[in-house]
Amino acid sequence: MQAAEVKVGDLTREEAEAELARLARKIADANQAYHAEDAPEISDADFDALKRRNAEIEARFPELKRSDSPSEQVGAAPSEGFAKVRHRVRMLSLANAFEDDDIRDFDGRVRSFLNLGAKAALAFTAEPKIDGLSLSLRYEKGVLVEAATRGDGAEGENVTANARTIDDIPQRLEGAPDVLEVRGEVYMSHADFAALNERQAAAGAKTFANPRNAAAGSLRQLDPKITAGRPLKFFAYAWGELSDPLADTQIGAIERLSDLGFSTNPLTTLCDGPAEMLDTYRAIEAGRVDLGYDIDGVVYKVNDLSLQARLGFRATTPRWAIAHKFPAELAWTRLEKIEIQVGRTGALSPVARLQPVTVGGVVVSNATLHNEDYIAGRDSKGAPIRPDAEGRGKDIRIGDWVQVYRAGDVIPKVADVDLSRRPEGTAPYRFPDTCPECGSDAIREEGDSVRRCSGGLICPAQAMEKLKHFVSRAAFDIEGLGAKQIEAFFHDDLLPIREPADIFTLARRDEENGLRRLKNRDGWGETSAANLFRAIEERRRIPLNRLIFALGIRHVGEVAAQDLARHFGTWAALIDAIDTAFPAEERHRKAEEAVLAERQAAEDVGRRARIKESRDAVWEADPALPQAARDAWADLIGIDGVGATLAVSLISAFHQKAERASIDRLVAHLTIEEVARPQTEGSPVAGKTLVFTGSLEKMTRAEAKARAEALGAKVAGSVSAKTDLLIAGPGAGSKAAKAAELGVETIDEDAWLALIEGH
Ligand code: IVH
Repeated sequence: MQAAEVKVGDLTREEAEAELARLARKIADANQAYHAEDAPEISDADFDALKRRNAEIEARFPELKRSDSPSEQVGAAPSEGFAKVRHRVRMLSLANAFEDDDIRDFDGRVRSFLNLGAKAALAFTAEPKIDGLSLSLRYEKGVLVEAATRGDGAEGENVTANARTIDDIPQRLEGAPDVLEVRGEVYMSHADFAALNERQAAAGAKTFANPRNAAAGSLRQLDPKITAGRPLKFFAYAWGELSDPLADTQIGAIERLSDLGFSTNPLTTLCDGPAEMLDTYRAIEAGRVDLGYDIDGVVYKVNDLSLQARLGFRATTPRWAIAHKFPAELAWTRLEKIEIQVGRTGALSPVARLQPVTVGGVVVSNATLHNEDYIAGRDSKGAPIRPDAEGRGKDIRIGDWVQVYRAGDVIPKVADVDLSRRPEGTAPYRFPDTCPECGSDAIREEGDSVRRCSGGLICPAQAMEKLKHFVSRAAFDIEGLGAKQIEAFFHDDLLPIREPADIFTLARRDEENGLRRLKNRDGWGETSAANLFRAIEERRRIPLNRLIFALGIRHVGEVAAQDLARHFGTWAALIDAIDTAFPAEERHRKAEEAVLAERQAAEDVGRRARIKESRDAVWEADPALPQAARDAWADLIGIDGVGATLAVSLISAFHQKAERASIDRLVAHLTIEEVARPQTEGSPVAGKTLVFTGSLEKMTRAEAKARAEALGAKVAGSVSAKTDLLIAGPGAGSKAAKAAELGVETIDEDAWLALIEGH
């Protein structure tokens, strides 16, 4: 019998000694395979089992413990992964478009932002959107010094050693600006992908699902020798920090990059407007099958770089570019079941369980059905969708033959139903009116297309989804604690995580569990447990915007969280505003409810409109309402991008007892960093609150606002005591009057331009 199969309690001394030697070797080999090579030889669970067995034998025969004992090697593990790199210029993503009209709208939006007439010349480049992963290459004095992946856009991974192994990436440049960050896409060709998978399969190593995954897996190898053996390619299409401009135009900059020795995409075309852009799109789409590498659309960019600079960026995407994705792919299959998932805000979402079907090369077995109206065949206003011959909306039933639609990486959806293939004896689907997870009433509010569980944090599904959101990438982003681990910890009785604060007590609670500590469990080991606790420790410091977003409050997405963080600066200021505004919010909400009830009763449209107008007057005149509450409310809803719906959601969340207590417990563990403000050195308007009113002539309102924000100002929608400056164009009305009344400084557009000139 092999010693490995003998129970630890039955081992003789000699057997134990031999077994410890064998385990030390196996664990060392597995460590090497895991950290330095591509394919781990054994599963995590088996690895942990080896370490456990080793620890048990050492506990029984302490005198036999080896000098190279694997149990002593915590923290001495090989490289923990890649070092982080902070991007000096954020790496952004692109907004998506699917229809031809979206492209005309894009041209229209650019024109309106820049105040260009419909006739003015406005050129765009069109080029394939490569389906790979983006990489930023930093050259200093012509020498490649750093290569970083995109990561979350602000911070990526340092993959310099790997990038040096890619033939398309020059190590040195002649005649380049002193500082030059070249950005582009790493990808793998179809032929190289097929050959790589064959090699992998022959070697018994893992194969990749598609070229994109293969490229990503190859670039993110800890051992550059492995990357060197992988046939990666690189197209340059953009840039980050620059000491000198590359050119005046996008197309010129691409030519310059090509002259410097980079591969640029040969299909890049200069177009004089939407018609040519769409022609180019169709030409690229037609040639797609013969390209030999994957593309998933066409990217259009404003050609004039000075216009790009004026257009600037939204939160995560440039205003001057858009990705026109190739159309979705369709397939028909049987709808086997409808399941209801309960989301983080209690929304009940119907999910179609389908007979698996291949849609555009991917096997789909689940698809969204949106909401109860969608299943019933009507839109949110009650109008029919999927009309039949008589114009009635077709409903979707279990057993139906349905069409599945998939566009890019978007969640597939059930798009249509074939009534001619409907089985006998089916009945319309009945949407549940109680929560399938906790049994609470599931309520659909007036004006909401979604039915929601009213259980709040007592609903386990909501609590768990909130936690998953909390650890997600744009929120706390804790390495080693993803959705899968959250589910396991949520159901764990020994070391549970039931709310965010529990994450930060995990390590301490684990220490109290003696022999049953995390590191001794299946799927965990000394290293992985230590890494998790370290990753959690690192996140005790958190930027304010991430914290706000992480709370998972309805309507408070990444952008709104950023707006709130910028406006209030600190957690204390935010809480103070929320608490101060509470009485106003309550009144606003009650008035709104009353209005909704009244409107439901009112038949004629004119009366409905009048009811709406009178809404806020109801409580604004209430003398019992403290002025501070009124001001705090006005300040909150005056933040551009906030508004009453979001404010209600935010304040209600903080005034639900259980939720507030949970937030307070969390915050006690954190150090909250102020949000990083834009570079505003010397800015004349940094930290000031501005309001624009009337018509501007030299800049559109959108551009003025973007400029002001880039200079560190807050732009509000209405004038209040907190307004520092009103910029009033011709036709300024009540806002100018109010500013005069409050003694707020008011200037015209020319004075505004003079003020910001040169900044
Ligand atoms: S431009 C500031 N051009 O698409 C915008 N991106 O969905 C910089 N991509 O993260 C991107 N081909 O990884 C640009 N020709 C192309 C591209 C391209 C692929 C990727 C890139 C980006 C993603 C956005």
